[in-house]
Amino acid sequence: MKRDILKFLKTATVFTIIFTCSFYISANNGDEDKEHHTQGKISPDDLKVGERLFHGLIITGDNTSNCASCHNTAVIDTFNWNPSALDLALSTENMDSASFANTLLNPVTKRISEVHENVKLDAQQIVQIRYYLDTIKTSGLKEHKRLVSRLAFFIILIIILLAAVTDLAFTKKIKFKPLHGTIILLALVFIFKIIYEDAVALGRSQDYAPLQPIKFSHKVHATDNKIDCIYCHHTVETAKSAGIPSTNVCMNCHELVREGTYSGRFEIQKILTHMEKEEAVRWIRIHKLPDHVFFSHAQHAGVGKLDCSECHGKVEDMHLLKQVEDLSMGWCLDCHRSKKVNFIGNEYYEKTFEDFHEKIKNNEIDSLTVAELGGENCMKCHY
Ligand code: HEC
Ligand code: HEC
Ligand code: HEC
Ligand code: HEC
Ligand code: HEC
Ligand code: HEC
Repeated sequence: MKRDILKFLKTATVFTIIFTCSFYISANNGDEDKEHHTQGKISPDDLKVGERLFHGLIITGDNTSNCASCHNTAVIDTFNWNPSALDLALSTENMDSASFANTLLNPVTKRISEVHENVKLDAQQIVQIRYYLDTIKTSGLKEHKRLVSRLAFFIILIIILLAAVTDLAFTKKIKFKPLHGTIILLALVFIFKIIYEDAVALGRSQDYAPLQPIKFSHKVHATDNKIDCIYCHHTVETAKSAGIPSTNVCMNCHELVREGTYSGRFEIQKILTHMEKEEAVRWIRIHKLPDHVFFSHAQHAGVGKLDCSECHGKVEDMHLLKQVEDLSMGWCLDCHRSKKVNFIGNEYYEKTFEDFHEKIKNNEIDSLTVAELGGENCMKCHY
C-alpha cells in the first residue's frame, strides 16, 4: 500500500512537471517572439533598462520614482485612479519625443505635478522608458496571476484524474485499488467545485464590479458634487429602463471641468476623445436579468416610489459600481411579500385599484403588500 502511494505520487509528479514546464515554455515563447520584432531598431539593453527604470530599480534623483507602483503593468481587479502602463502607451503613442519628455518633466496641471514630483530622468532614460512602453502597447498588460494559477490548478487536477483512470484501466502499476477510487473522487470533487463556482458567477453576478472604460465614480458625482441620480438616469421614473447617460450629458459639465481631484486630466480626456471620434463609451453592463423576466423601473422608482438604494445599495458611496443584490426570483418575491404599498396620495393606485382604495378609506384594511396586489403572479414577471 505504501509502495503504491509512492508510485502514484511519482507518476503524478512526473505528469505535473512535464505539464508545468510546457506551460511556462509556451508562455515565455510568446515574449521572445515579441522581442524579435523590435530588435531591428532598439538594443535589448535599452529595453531592459527602460523596464527597470519603470519599476524604480535604477536610482534617479533623491527619491527614485517607481512608475509601476502607480502605472500598473499587470491586469489588476481592484479600482485604482492612475492610468495603467497600457493606458500611457496608448495615450502617448502619437507624441513626439519632445512633448513626451515635456509631459513627464514639466507637468502643467495640479494633479500631475503632485504625482510626478519625484520624477527625475535624463533624456536617454526617457527614451528607454518609451521603448518599454512600446512593448507594452503590443504585448498588453500581464495576465492576472490568480486567474492563471486557478487555470493551472484546474488542469493539474484533470491530469491527476487522467493518470489515476489510466492506471486503473490499463497500466495497473498500483495494486491497491481503493487508492484510485479516493484520488478520482477527490479530483472530481475539486473539478466540480471549480466548474460550479464559475457557472454560478456567470449567471448571477452578485458583487460583480467590472473595471469600466472610463473611471467614472458615483461617489465623486452623486455625493461630492451632489448630482441627482435622475440627472443622468433620466428615464428611471417613466420607462422600463433607467438608461445610461450619453457622452453629451457628460459634456454638459466636462466642457468646463477638465481636471479631477483623483485622476487628473487623464480620465476626463477620454470623454473628449469619444466626443471627437463620435463614438459612444462602451460601458460594461452590470445588472442583467434573464430575457424571460420583465422588470420596470417606472413601476418601482416611479409608481412605487422606492429608493434606488433598496435595490442597488449605497451607489453614492461607490467609486467603482458594484451589484449588491443577487437579482434572484427569491429576492424579488421577498420584497413583494413584505413591502407595504404606498397607497395614500398615490394617483396611480387611486385609478387602478378603486375598490382597495375604498376599503382603506373605510378602515376595513389598513395596508396592502405588493403580493396582495398580484405581485406574486407568475405572469406579472414572466412573459
Ligand atoms: C453624472 C452622471 C450619473 C449620476 C449623477 C448617476 N449615475 Fe449611475 N451611472 C452613470 C454611468 C456613466 C454609469 C455606467 C458606468 C458605471 O457602471 O459606473 C452608471 C451606472 C449605474 C448603475 C449600474 C448600471 C448597470 O450597468 O447595471 C446603477 C445601478 C446606477 N448607475 C445607479 C445610480 C444611482 C442610484 C445614482 C444616484 C445615487 C446614480 N446612478 C447617479 C452615470 C451617473
Ligand atoms: C452635472 C455635472 C457633471 C456631469 C453631467 C458629469 N460630471 Fe464628471 N465630474 C463633475 C465634477 C464637478 C467633477 C469633479 C472635479 C473635481 O474633482 O474637482 C467630475 C469628475 C469626473 C471625473 C474625474 C474624477 C476624479 O476626481 O478624478 C471623471 C472621470 C468624470 N467626471 C467622468 C464623467 C462622465 C464619464 C460623465 C458622463 C457619464 C460625467 N462625468 C458627467 C461633474 C459632472
Ligand atoms: C504617485 C503615482 C504616480 C507615479 C509614481 C508616476 N505617475 Fe505618471 N501619472 C500618474 C497620474 C495620476 C497621471 C495622470 C495625471 C493627469 O492626467 O493629470 C500620470 C500621468 C502620466 C503620463 C501622462 C499621460 C498622458 O497622456 O497625459 C505619463 C507619460 C506618465 N504618467 C509616466 C510616468 C512615468 C514614466 C513614471 C515614472 C518615472 C510615472 N509616470 C510615475 C501617477 C503617477
Ligand atoms: C425594485 C428594485 C430596483 C429599484 C428600486 C431600482 N432599480 Fe435599477 N435595476 C434594478 C434591476 C432588477 C435592474 C436590472 C434590469 C434588467 O436587467 O432588465 C436594474 C438596472 C438598473 C440600471 C442599468 C440600466 C437598466 O435600466 O437596465 C440602472 C442605470 C439603474 N438600475 C439605476 C437605478 C436608479 C437610478 C434607481 C433609483 C431612481 C433605481 N435603479 C432603482 C432594480 C431596481
Ligand atoms: C425592494 C422591494 C422590491 C423588490 C426587490 C422588487 N420589487 Fe417589484 N414591486 C415592488 C413594489 C413596492 C411594487 C408596487 C408597485 C405597484 O404595485 O405597481 C412592485 C411591483 C412590481 C410589479 C407590478 C406588479 C403589479 O401588481 O402590477 C412587477 C411586475 C414587479 N414588481 C417585478 C419585480 C421583479 C421582476 C423584481 C426582481 C427582479 C422585483 N419586482 C423586485 C417592490 C419590489
Ligand atoms: C416578482 C417577480 C417574479 C414572479 C412573481 C415570478 N418570478 Fe420566476 N423569476 C423571476 C426572476 C427575477 C427570475 C430570474 C432568476 C435568476 O436569474 O436567478 C425568475 C426565474 C424563474 C425560472 C427560471 C429558473 C431560475 O430560478 O432561474 C422559473 C422556472 C420561474 N422563474 C418560474 C416562475 C413561476 C412558476 C412563477 C409563479 C409561481 C414565477 N416564476 C413568479 C421573477 C419572478
